[in-house]
Amino acid sequence: MNRILLLMVAVATAAGLGAQKPVAQPANKMTAFVNALMAKMTVDEKIGQLNLLNPGGGVATGAVVSSGVESKIKSGGVGALFGIIGVDKIRQAQQLAVSSSRLKIPMIFGSDVIHGYKTTFPVPLALSCSWDLAMIERSARLAAEEATADGLSWVYSPMVDIARDPRWGRVVEGAGEDTYLGSKIAAAMVKGYQGNDLAANNTVMACVKHFALYGAAEAGRDYNSVDMSRLKMYETYLPPYRAAIDAGAGSVMTSFNDIDGIPASGNKWLMTDLLRKQWGFKGFVVTDYTAINEMVDHGVGDLQVASALALKAGVDMDMVGEGFLTTLKKSLQQGKVTQRQIDDGCRRVLEAKYKLGLFEDPFRYCDSSRTQREVLSADKRTAAREFGARSCVLLKNNNQTLPLKKSGTIALIGPLANNKSNMLGTWAVSGEPQLSVPVLDGMRSVGGSGVNILYAKGANITDDTALAKKVNVFGVRADVDSLSPDQLLTQALEVAGRADVIVAVVGEASEMSGEAASRSDISLPVNQQRLLQALAKTGKPLVVVLMNGRPLILNMEAELATSLLDVWFQGHEAGNAIADVLFGNYNPSGKLTMTFPRNVGQIPIYYNHKNTGRPQGAGPTQKFRSNYLDVSNEPLFPFGFGLSYTTFSYSEIKLNRTSMRAADQLQLRVTLSNTGQFDGEEVVQLYLHDEYASITQPVKKLKAFQKIRLQAGESKDIVFNLTVDDLKFVGSDLKPIYEPGNFTVFVGGNSRDLKQAKFVLVP
Ligand code: BGC
Repeated sequence: MNRILLLMVAVATAAGLGAQKPVAQPANKMTAFVNALMAKMTVDEKIGQLNLLNPGGGVATGAVVSSGVESKIKSGGVGALFGIIGVDKIRQAQQLAVSSSRLKIPMIFGSDVIHGYKTTFPVPLALSCSWDLAMIERSARLAAEEATADGLSWVYSPMVDIARDPRWGRVVEGAGEDTYLGSKIAAAMVKGYQGNDLAANNTVMACVKHFALYGAAEAGRDYNSVDMSRLKMYETYLPPYRAAIDAGAGSVMTSFNDIDGIPASGNKWLMTDLLRKQWGFKGFVVTDYTAINEMVDHGVGDLQVASALALKAGVDMDMVGEGFLTTLKKSLQQGKVTQRQIDDGCRRVLEAKYKLGLFEDPFRYCDSSRTQREVLSADKRTAAREFGARSCVLLKNNNQTLPLKKSGTIALIGPLANNKSNMLGTWAVSGEPQLSVPVLDGMRSVGGSGVNILYAKGANITDDTALAKKVNVFGVRADVDSLSPDQLLTQALEVAGRADVIVAVVGEASEMSGEAASRSDISLPVNQQRLLQALAKTGKPLVVVLMNGRPLILNMEAELATSLLDVWFQGHEAGNAIADVLFGNYNPSGKLTMTFPRNVGQIPIYYNHKNTGRPQGAGPTQKFRSNYLDVSNEPLFPFGFGLSYTTFSYSEIKLNRTSMRAADQLQLRVTLSNTGQFDGEEVVQLYLHDEYASITQPVKKLKAFQKIRLQAGESKDIVFNLTVDDLKFVGSDLKPIYEPGNFTVFVGGNSRDLKQAKFVLVP
């Protein structure tokens, strides 16, 4: 029996547990290994494991990069690194840790692999619009394969923050506004990254972020305070994090905001009571970038106080700020933190290394033959193209202008039509923009020789040089052309005059969304609006292709456009994927996962709002109703909305019963018919409304969906089975409950246009 087993028996016996059955539990291999290692560690070495540094050289996402990294690694002062790219550099750094540090503990190498690694896939908000969980899981799987082939074992993804304020630039990194869909996507991504075996050389540890509620920053201003009821947290904001944890996510990242007046990185309720005790999370918690230091500005105390608070709250690893490294020992000596608290953090970090197989082979992820084979491989480009096409959302298509014919003359116009530097979207820290396919190239290759494509830029992304400067922090995204705005416009009109149809590719620069990219005005830049107005005046069919990282205000654009296709930011294969959709090689099937408002004053606007006591009735605005004097309550495009080149019709809903008991299953059936000319896919969405409940309920909640492919003319019965679990909501004690009463179930192709049926849950 080894020392640890003996110890366990002794402890169990001392606690009286051994009295009936004095059988020693076999010590878990990992625990035994970590115990043995920790027995050899000094306090400094333990604190070192809690230190995550960014040596620079890659992209720094905060204001600071770490210094003296090499000597810190040698002294055992670094547990993990991020921001260094490539097998050679990672191997070198790992070599330092495992040959020059006293205990030779390997480091974890992390990175922001957000939508692909070197091969860049569509931004997460775009992927979510596919409503295709298998595809989203595959995108994470491929990203994991590519990242591990380049030395990485840890990714800062998925971001599962529910977001209902499109002014917040980071809506682009998540799955939109809905809790149910967001939870499914969170789990799919974790599965994709981690696979079934974390120690395999092609899987990575996921890091769910940002815990928690980061998407609810007041006024959509990044890093701003969050203040919300526990009910709303439990019902709406927390489930996606929980879903990711339940799917096995190995790590969690804190958020920058405060919650109930306590910054997330120092919030014990959040990280210990909720995450670990209630949810049973066994992995480790890392802060966001310098989030401990930022607690000083939040106003909790100086760096020593903030670091002690973070450790005691349940943070295990300090990202870049070195608050732990520089103050924890002193706090220990002064009795402000305990040895046990430091040990807990160290243990969780070492366990992560063990699970990743790094103790067995610190170079497990440093196989350069894999780098050759798997980084930027052809299969990943093919997948990127497919993911791109499947993420597009068709918002308008008058006169069946789309798909375009592969003949005649097309005027391809716009600042994003022949542009490589914005195709990747934000948070593509390892993606090379120059490897992108611009729309012009994609259109030429997919359209083939029968179609004549003329190109003009037409406008800058913005003429506002102050704005351009702010979005050009990671390289030029918004350039100002040497031609004047008027000259650009004249060229565009000349080209448009020679064409049968105009395709205008407009939108945001990629860095107009993302971190620290909040906007108070989420319209298209005015100079692009001017371009569209001038193009519309030609009277020619105007197809507007929109690149954006958030819902935009598009009233005028939606009016002027004959067709409107939202393509978001698609990654490396943007041009090909967009051309596949425009020319009909792929029939669009995406559906919005965020509501598009009519104006900024409607924000926050989301489909599953409460009814209120004075709901807006049908017809015009009425006095003493919950509405506006100057705009309707309806969004421009609702959640779940998206057209296809074909049309779908839904039969009335058939229920197998109109009254159910808690033990029953309710079966719902609709016939979906493809009534148009093209084969296509439809996302059939099911929503529920609970009429009377002890907690007021939203007008509807998404509860299920299926993505169905039908050939032109084909019909199919779609079946959903509901149980009492689907009828639950969070009660006033914060536990899920159901209550007997009347329910309405809705089925349709978006959250607005729905068939409905009623049933009763009887006691
Ligand atoms: C972001 C995180 C990111 C981290 C590391 C922070 O600024 O909020 O999402 O993972 O930087 O780059």
